[in-house]
Amino acid sequence: MTRRDHSRPEVGGRGVRGLSLCAATTCALLASSAARAAETPLDYWWTHGSRAQSIAHLLWFSTAVSILVIAIVSGLLLAGIFRRRGLPPPQMPGQAAINRPSGGASWIYIGAGVSTAVLVFTTVWTFGTLARTGPQPGPAAVRLQITAHQWWWEVRYLSDKPSEEFTTANEIHIPVGQVVEVKLRGPDVIHSFWVPKLAGKTDVIPGQENQTWLQADHEGVYRGQCGEYCGQQHAHMAFEVIASPPDAYAQWRQQQLQPAKATDAPEPQSGQGLFRTRCGICHTVRGTEAGGILGPDLTHVMSRRAIAADTVPNNTGNLAAWIADPQHIKPGNRMPRLGLSGEQLTLIRQYVETLK
Ligand code: CUA
Repeated sequence: MTRRDHSRPEVGGRGVRGLSLCAATTCALLASSAARAAETPLDYWWTHGSRAQSIAHLLWFSTAVSILVIAIVSGLLLAGIFRRRGLPPPQMPGQAAINRPSGGASWIYIGAGVSTAVLVFTTVWTFGTLARTGPQPGPAAVRLQITAHQWWWEVRYLSDKPSEEFTTANEIHIPVGQVVEVKLRGPDVIHSFWVPKLAGKTDVIPGQENQTWLQADHEGVYRGQCGEYCGQQHAHMAFEVIASPPDAYAQWRQQQLQPAKATDAPEPQSGQGLFRTRCGICHTVRGTEAGGILGPDLTHVMSRRAIAADTVPNNTGNLAAWIADPQHIKPGNRMPRLGLSGEQLTLIRQYVETLK
């Protein structure tokens, strides 16, 4: 932020200079925020999908209008304050308390007319944007069923063939340039599915299925975030959308369809037994007896970049810390402290690290 200019504005020539200073400050602010936005993952001013772009144009316009309105109203207010200075106070008996020259009403008509025109224009543009961004532009290359839980995202890849469906969590892979259909549902409270660089928010409402769509025009990793306050860990209910070329996406999908690879090494094998009894009630690892559905599917958890709904990077240290005490990293989440011994923790962690 730049510091506010506290020098006293004046009407006339110096007032105009004040206004241009104000405009220059605004431009500088916008330019510096443009530079910062380039490196912020939740930035919705510079977008990467045709859908989000339409919304961003409307956002730019309404922000510019708002800044202009504040500048004009402030200018007129200051002009009014300084002009009134010269008038003698109406203190004589029998005189009206308010004494102003006639003709001021025209300002009200002009103000109301201009505001109405701008509001009507913005409303028409908003309806146009809604009509453009609401309907899916074509058949979907990928169909997703996303379930929002307190506080993580279950992502099921749908297919006409049941054998080609699979479930993962908190990381969505999509092919670049193709339409992705997203069906949203939630079993607990209202959440909101939001990938700022690709699309606006769509609420996830218990008891109904909402639908939205994504399309990334460029390869990249786009951060998503729950956009509706949903409890203690709302801020840590994030995910990533990874847009890659269609062949890389197809490869990823084939790899995710595979069940977990059996492991030969002795430590992960004992870890697998422990995992089944201690973790398998809540988590699924396809191809093993662990089949719980309360927590994320961990069949290929090591292929993900982060754990705990994009709260911490997925590495040995964080994984061990999470298994040892998930309430430390994300207080209030639904995974209980398991009370594992050091040896049990190591064995389970070693097993989980084989789930690539
Ligand atoms: Cu889910 Cu906020």
